[in-house]
Amino acid sequence: MSDSARRFLFLLSSTRRLGNSEQLAYCAAHPLPAQTGQRWLHLSDHALPEFVDLRHTGAFHAPTGNAQLLLEATLDATDVVLAAPLYLYSLPAAAKHYLDYWNAWLRTPNIAFSEQMQGKTLWAIIVSSGKRDEAKPLEATLRLTAQFMDMRWGGMLYGTGSRPNDIQQDAAALKQAQTFFLNPATT
Ligand SMILES: Cc1cc2nc3c(=O)[nH]c(=O)nc-3n(C[C@H](O)[C@H](O)[C@H](O)COP(=O)(O)O)c2cc1C
Repeated sequence: MSDSARRFLFLLSSTRRLGNSEQLAYCAAHPLPAQTGQRWLHLSDHALPEFVDLRHTGAFHAPTGNAQLLLEATLDATDVVLAAPLYLYSLPAAAKHYLDYWNAWLRTPNIAFSEQMQGKTLWAIIVSSGKRDEAKPLEATLRLTAQFMDMRWGGMLYGTGSRPNDIQQDAAALKQAQTFFLNPATT
């Protein structure tokens, strides 16, 4: 796909602004070609209503409000990037909540969510204050989600930091950020 045909959707899901995961995402996005589209959304600016499992009631309606905004942004992207801190070895609630909505959108009439998601690439940019191995459950969650959706799994860029700006001391992560989007995962 040409650079100009690609559109990256960056979904920021820390509960604080300009934190480590957001900063690492900016570092990874910086080398993207100018003609590649970028859209940045902070999930806390677009809070979703409580998720309710309606699978067995046959009552899925077209999304409205923030759900519609996030659905349209997701469908418009060729590449979906979740930028998140590690929270209890997992995704922050806002990011998990957004992914739960994928399950509903799969069953919503007239949006062909499954067909439209096929072939897009899912990426993760994760920062924690611990060790990379502790992010493995989260990495597996997203890799399996991509597999389930027939998407490509781009991979996880991982950095360490606790206080905001700590990520600026993680030289290895900052270096990997420079080429992260050029080298998708092979599995
Ligand atoms: C609720 C909560 C849970 C956390 N859980 C973990 C954890 O399981 N492992 C870890 O290494 N760090 C954990 N952290 C630390 C954050 O991942 C770390 O501070 C990270 O840099 C925050 O990224 P941010 O600045 O983008 O918000 C947790 C922080 C919070 C607030």
